[in-house]
Amino acid sequence: MNKYRWQAIVFVLVAFMLGCNEFIVVGVLSDIARELHVSVATVGYLVTIFATVYAISTPFITILTNRFSRYKTLMTLMVIFLIGNTLSGLANSFTVLLISRVITAVVAGAIISLIMTFASAIAPREKRANLVSWIFAGFSIASVFGVPIGTAISTSYSWHDAFYLITVISLITCGLLGWLLPKQVEQVQGSIKNQLVLLADKRIYIGIALVLFTAATMYAYYTYIRPILTTGLGFSTASLNWLLFLIGVMNILCNRFSGMLPKRDHYVEAWQAMIDARTRGLIRSIGVSNFEPEHLDRLITETGVTPAVNQIEVHPYWVQEALRTANFQRGIVTEAWSPLGRGSAALQEPVIRDLAGKYQKNVGQVILRWHTQRGIVPIPKARNLKHQRSNLDLFDFSLTADEIAAINALSKPDGRIDGQDPNEYEEFD
Ligand SMILES: NC(=O)c1ccc[n+]([C@@H]2O[C@H](COP(=O)([O-])OP(=O)(O)OC[C@H]3O[C@@H](n4cnc5c(N)ncnc54)[C@H](OP(=O)(O)O)[C@@H]3O)[C@@H](O)[C@H]2O)c1
Repeated sequence: MNKYRWQAIVFVLVAFMLGCNEFIVVGVLSDIARELHVSVATVGYLVTIFATVYAISTPFITILTNRFSRYKTLMTLMVIFLIGNTLSGLANSFTVLLISRVITAVVAGAIISLIMTFASAIAPREKRANLVSWIFAGFSIASVFGVPIGTAISTSYSWHDAFYLITVISLITCGLLGWLLPKQVEQVQGSIKNQLVLLADKRIYIGIALVLFTAATMYAYYTYIRPILTTGLGFSTASLNWLLFLIGVMNILCNRFSGMLPKRDHYVEAWQAMIDARTRGLIRSIGVSNFEPEHLDRLITETGVTPAVNQIEVHPYWVQEALRTANFQRGIVTEAWSPLGRGSAALQEPVIRDLAGKYQKNVGQVILRWHTQRGIVPIPKARNLKHQRSNLDLFDFSLTADEIAAINALSKPDGRIDGQDPNEYEEFD
């Protein structure tokens, strides 16, 4: 199993751990009330206070810790969580239990925000949505499996042991995070004011409303509706558990399904977001990559905005004359990725070597000059300083039309480097 898979598993484990800690109180309400000599309604305040502290503290802790290393911040918050949860296990009075719940509530939301940040940094673009849906599924798995297990432990032993079990899971999770997380992730440092700018975007409110209503619907079942189902609607306790289990399983399945959706056919929406960013002055110029003419036409027809550039695979084995012309006709600059064929055999082609000899240039320079004379902007990658310098030194010679045609003739029907056909990429389905 590769490292990314391990990282994904540990992220889901974090969500599971947080979910168990969040929901466990609901499963052991009556046991706590009995032992601490308080009413069930009073213990119910633990749920309300936890949720209130969680909601208020999450954005603040996230914004305040923004300037510190994400790795160190996450590990610190995990240790605080560990202490808070263990204190819940040790609590022998309602006050101590309340304090321990507040400690975990303060850090739990920030922990999941940081996990999401790491997930975006680590996951390849096409796997991001899927990973996020898995992480959220971690909460559902906690409510479906973790809470009943915790309740069973509480019934058979004591509710303290249910919290101790979460402490064990937290210790394992801490160890795995320490081992698997990158110590450095790309980090944009913005002021608090900059971050509050987000609140001017109505899409943020739509996102918040969506999560708010989904969570309210979901958790109302586990807390307030649960007693009504037995007392009012006459469900037996056994069938109630099955019912809640079914809701949880459906939640997990739908989470997984939602992770698959964003991959498909959203490129016009993504383009619109880039147009918005340009309108707000956040970026100057916008372009696309690996777009075929039909994709370009859809963007132009639906948004009225033509990309400045289309970055596509072009090199002597994959000449792309048709797409180059299609870009040109739409006023789009063609940019070539892997313009040297990624150091492939194209560099050894006799036609190119002969031209290099004729013009006293290296083969890379001949290929790059071929691109520029076709009106293409090549973006070669070069680690070697000599290559970097020579790749800029292209403009003191010119290939003839016949020489350009001779390089064009090297194109092969199966010339793509990795067979990366944009039409087979899921985003365009
Ligand atoms: N949009 C996309 O879907 C997409 C896909 C793939 C790649 N890209 C981008 O395309 C860019 C370049 O692609 P690439 O790295 O795949 O291939 P590339 O630029 O065609 O080839 C890079 C290789 O060519 C060598 N090289 C550079 N200059 C040379 C010269 N003058 N003579 C001989 N060899 C030379 C480099 O060696 P040294 O390093 O030793 O100098 C390196 O091994 C990257 O920025 C990449 O991110 C985009």
